[in-house]
Amino acid sequence: MLFKIILWRIFPLLFLAIAILIGWFASHELPLGVFFATFVPLTKGMLPPTIVGHGKMKGTPPVPDDMMPQARPANEQFLELPGGYQMPQSGLGMCCRPSAYDDGLVYRSVLWYLLLGGRHIDGAHLYLNHEAIGRGIAEAIRRGIKREDIFVTTKIFPTHFGYESALKNGKEYLKELGLDYIDLVLLHFPSNFPMMSSPCKKEGKDATQCRRETWTALSELREAGLIRNVGVSNFALKHLKDLEGLGAPIANNQIQFTPFEPEHVMEAVQYCFDNNITMTAYSPLGGMMDQDKAMADKVLNEIAAKYGKRVSHIMLRWLTQRGFATIPGTGNPDHMKDNLFAILDFELKDEDMNTINELKHSAKGFMHLDVRQSE
Ligand SMILES: NC(=O)c1ccc[n+]([C@@H]2O[C@H](COP(=O)([O-])OP(=O)(O)OC[C@H]3O[C@@H](n4cnc5c(N)ncnc54)[C@H](OP(=O)(O)O)[C@@H]3O)[C@@H](O)[C@H]2O)c1
Repeated sequence: MLFKIILWRIFPLLFLAIAILIGWFASHELPLGVFFATFVPLTKGMLPPTIVGHGKMKGTPPVPDDMMPQARPANEQFLELPGGYQMPQSGLGMCCRPSAYDDGLVYRSVLWYLLLGGRHIDGAHLYLNHEAIGRGIAEAIRRGIKREDIFVTTKIFPTHFGYESALKNGKEYLKELGLDYIDLVLLHFPSNFPMMSSPCKKEGKDATQCRRETWTALSELREAGLIRNVGVSNFALKHLKDLEGLGAPIANNQIQFTPFEPEHVMEAVQYCFDNNITMTAYSPLGGMMDQDKAMADKVLNEIAAKYGKRVSHIMLRWLTQRGFATIPGTGNPDHMKDNLFAILDFELKDEDMNTINELKHSAKGFMHLDVRQSE
């Protein structure tokens, strides 16, 4: 009896629900973006704005109306980019947590962060929150922060790769963000995920051609002054080499990087450092999948205790001393202050840097996206 109910009632309903869900995701221009914006809040037990609308989620507190810009971190550090531009080494990530998907909370997060003294915001078209980020920036400017002091990154997803498409989308991002120029635009991934297409792929071009066409278009937007720098994300060595000598210099490679990454990642990292390509570490605290494991690591906890710091400080400080920019994601103003200020008043000794460098050899159960597999 139970078997019959499962077979004839529950299975078809489940099948129908999955089909409707896939159809719903696919009906959006960026199905993967809508998937994340729906899935991430659901994993934390919150109803996603993609279903119930924006402005309903709780999290980041309102920014006081009379709050004005506060002092920037005293020892703030910068990375040098082509064209004489500088990128603040500490930034704010804008995806992969519930507060990154509700426009109201995104607006508040950006405004809090800028008023608290941060100046580097990491976005992407995939995160579907350009407009709310732009509103946060506009309000911060209205309260006295200079546009030229703010560093804004966004990324073009492979679904939009192609010469004409990159030109069109680059200009579209400017409108969405409400900016005259974007400081850094990255190719988000080297190539599309299986089953996903792009204008360039539809013309029968391979992944290398698609990357190169996109790069050429973004380089032209840079020449026109709409973009100040162009970079990449999740690029392995072979992908970086594809762009050698083409258009703009590669300004930055943004990759997943914590002490728990496997050794092979260093191949691309070394190439970048040897070729004056700055590096940004995403998910620097372990991200959605690995943060709990990282925070519980015995070695990191011992080092944190030695310096009177928390594990998050040690992880970000280690990255900073290795020369990476860090973009921890948070919608919590206390965490923003922590990430901006509490990592600048101490220095890890060489012996502790080396101990942390060795963690990769004992890392077990940490999720790593092996981008060498991308076409
Ligand atoms: N290029 C890419 O393909 C790619 C992929 C993934 C991510 N990214 C970028 O990297 C950014 C950061 O990565 P992520 O968000 O995946 O992971 P993450 O920064 O490693 O971790 C974010 C989590 O850490 C918590 N957190 C932040 N500061 C903290 C602090 N001081 N103390 C305790 N907890 C703290 C946040 O919670 P609270 O909100 O409660 O503070 C959030 O849940 C993203 O937002 C995005 O901009 C890029």
